[in-house]
Amino acid sequence: MIRAAKAADIPDLARVHVEAWRQAYAGQVPEALLAPDRLAWRAAMWTAILAGGEGPYLALVAHDDAGALAALGLFMPATEAPAGWDHEIRSLYLLRHVQRRGLGAKMLAQGRDWVRARGGRNLMAWALDANTGAQDFYRATGAIEIARRVVPAGTASLAEIGFGWDPV
Ligand SMILES: CC(C)(COP(=O)(O)OP(=O)(O)OC[C@H]1O[C@@H](n2cnc3c(N)ncnc32)[C@H](O)[C@@H]1OP(=O)(O)O)[C@@H](O)C(=O)NCCC(=O)NCCS
Repeated sequence: MIRAAKAADIPDLARVHVEAWRQAYAGQVPEALLAPDRLAWRAAMWTAILAGGEGPYLALVAHDDAGALAALGLFMPATEAPAGWDHEIRSLYLLRHVQRRGLGAKMLAQGRDWVRARGGRNLMAWALDANTGAQDFYRATGAIEIARRVVPAGTASLAEIGFGWDPV
C-alpha cells in the first residue's frame, strides 16, 4: 500500500533513503555521500520537507511484506529542472527487495496525478549517467531524455541525464 508520508515516518524515511542510496550508488558516487552519518542529514531534510519548509510536495511511502517502510517518493515543483519544466521527482527510492514488482510505476503514477491536479504541465527527473536501471524505468514509463548536466559531488563530479514526461 502506498500512502502519504507523515512526521512519524521521518526516522524510517532517513534509514531507507540512506540504505537505498548505498544499494544504488556504491562505487558510483563518493563514499562520503553514502556514509552512515548521512542519516542525521536525511532526517533533517525530511523534517524540513514534511514541515512544509520547502514548499508544496507529495511525499509517498510504501512498506514491504513484513510491514517495514521500504520505498519513498518525493515530487515537488521544479527547482533543478531545465527551463520549461515545472515539476520534478526529487527522490524515488525503493530498497532492492521491493524493486521490479510495479511499485515504482505506481508511485510515479500517483506523482503524475498530483502534478496534474496542481495544474502542472510536465515532470522531469535526473538520473545518474551510471544508473541505467533508473533510466530504463523512466523510458519504460514514457519519459524521454531531455537534458544532460554535470554536478559537483564532494570531491568528484557526477554526470546526470534528465528525463521528462511532457505532458505529465
Ligand atoms: C528505479 C525504480 C524507482 C523503479 O521502480 P520499480 O518498482 O523497481 O520498477 P517497476 O517494477 O515499476 O518497473 C516498471 C518497468 O520499468 C522498467 N524497469 C524498472 N527497473 C528496471 C531496471 N532496473 N532495469 C531495467 N528496466 C527496469 C521495466 O520495463 C519495468 O517493467 P517490467 O518489470 O515488467 O520489465 C526502483 O527500482 C529503484 O528505486 N531503484 C533504485 C534507486 C533508483 O535508481 N532510483 C531512481 C533515482 S534517479
